[in-house]
Amino acid sequence: MSVAVRVELGPRSYDVAIGRGLIAEAGARIAPLLTRPRLAIVTDARVAGLHLRALQAGLSAAGIESEALALPEGEATKSWAELERAVEWLLEHKVERRDVVVAFGGGVIGDLAGFAAAILRRGVRFVQIPTTLLAQVDSSVGGKTGINSTHGKNLVGAFHQPALVLADIDVLGTLTPRDFLAGYGEVAKYGLLGDEGFFDWLERHGPALAAGDADLRVEAVRRSVQMKADIVTRDETEQGERALLNLGHTFCHALEAATGYSDRLLHGEGVAIGCALAFETSARLGLCAQEVPSRVRAHLRAMGMKVDLADIPGSLPDAEGLLALMAQDKKVQDGRLRFILAREIGQAFVADDVDLDVVRGVLSDALAQR
Ligand code: GLY
Repeated sequence: MSVAVRVELGPRSYDVAIGRGLIAEAGARIAPLLTRPRLAIVTDARVAGLHLRALQAGLSAAGIESEALALPEGEATKSWAELERAVEWLLEHKVERRDVVVAFGGGVIGDLAGFAAAILRRGVRFVQIPTTLLAQVDSSVGGKTGINSTHGKNLVGAFHQPALVLADIDVLGTLTPRDFLAGYGEVAKYGLLGDEGFFDWLERHGPALAAGDADLRVEAVRRSVQMKADIVTRDETEQGERALLNLGHTFCHALEAATGYSDRLLHGEGVAIGCALAFETSARLGLCAQEVPSRVRAHLRAMGMKVDLADIPGSLPDAEGLLALMAQDKKVQDGRLRFILAREIGQAFVADDVDLDVVRGVLSDALAQR
């Protein structure tokens, strides 16, 4: 059983298939894209250990030969060195212009393998098979690919849309509860930014889907991907509306930098805390009622997620230090900080003229509760 969401981008349109058992069907689903029955897979060591055999069996079932490169797991892999390794490996394995590369893993592998595909022979097609909730609902869809620089995250990359995305819900069963909930931060983000009905649905069904209900997981991924597809269709290269997908991210990136991109704070955890702070900022600016951030926090708390700065272990910089980290974010435009704020749950907008004293106050109060 699977459902499909179409990302409409003219000649670069593609389907995101969401459902159970898709890895076993990968060969049949990818075969129509191939001019010869062979594939190069880029993955990481953890995903390879858990799922590579199943993927290769699914490909063989359709007569497709495959070879795999397993890179180290973790954010540090999004580097020039690992990109070079991936590109040289693809060339060594004679991947040609009309071949297809498979990105099999979470956001790190999707971003790196997608970028390798974008620059290999001036661009080859690639298929995303995301194995984390975060990658299924966010990073595998929309064509943002890239690596990190010493100057910051995701500063080197390209827009390169996949030719197909296969989001197999069954693989989510091998995620740790912490990783699953981190991905859920991005799911909640969609309701918060543009669909109160979806947030309401998550309030009712979130605990059951986190506990493992596969039908609810399919539905949560489908609705998230549909929202992302609609936004990407209207604004592929983030000239405007796509920035809404960065709800919570200005705060999140500062917190990730403050915690050294370490295990102390996963990206999706930072997004959840960042969403709560964005709604708090919106309330203090008089844009929404104080009950709105309380409702956001109550749901995240009910899910057992990190919600407050107090939930981040270890020390953090003071409010001034966090503001300085925000100023280094790539979302700074013309020297001004860009925030995504909201008038209600589901009604987010881009704000370029936020009074930084208000943000400073929100951060000071949140730090005081630690
Ligand atoms: N993850 C945000 C975007 O794809 O635009």
